[in-house]
Amino acid sequence: MGKLDRLFKKSYYLNEKNDSDYFDCVKDYCYTDEFNSMRKNIQHGDVSVVQHIYSVSYISYRISRRLKMDRKIVARGALLHDLFYYDWHDPDPSHRLHGFYHPGFALKNARELSKKQGVELTEIEQNIIKRHMFPLTVIPPKHKESLIVCLVDKYVATKEIIICRSPKLKKKFDEEISLHK
Ligand SMILES: [Fe+2]
Ligand SMILES: [Fe+2]
Repeated sequence: MGKLDRLFKKSYYLNEKNDSDYFDCVKDYCYTDEFNSMRKNIQHGDVSVVQHIYSVSYISYRISRRLKMDRKIVARGALLHDLFYYDWHDPDPSHRLHGFYHPGFALKNARELSKKQGVELTEIEQNIIKRHMFPLTVIPPKHKESLIVCLVDKYVATKEIIICRSPKLKKKFDEEISLHK
């Protein structure tokens, strides 16, 4: 877990200087207004949807790079896995059953954003987005790339929830991150 924890931490101070190859992989999406509009939305605790996505995408990218898989496809599919433009905590009836429905919303938004950016959304990237909530949504990931993102998403969500629930852990985590900024 030590290596994963280090990558999780790095995802909070990630930038073009300390990992330009990663940003090369995701540049078609990460600078768009659509993607950055999600900075105001919360995922878990006080973590924004954008920070959550960077954590999942960066860790998945590093694992796939290590396994000599297509790191660009994994990084991009993961960057788009939670591409929904609402705060799921809002008590709006249209956000009911968010856990079940948001992979479908994210896929639709990812298709539209890819079209707007003039880039192809591959079948593997689509499967990463669509199947990342397994086993809540019953159909399992079809590719090893989708399985990696599905597992990393669980790891990241668990870390976010644990850190945000403990003021002591949160303080320590924030102090460590600030040393790198
Ligand atoms: Fe999700
Ligand atoms: Fe997620």
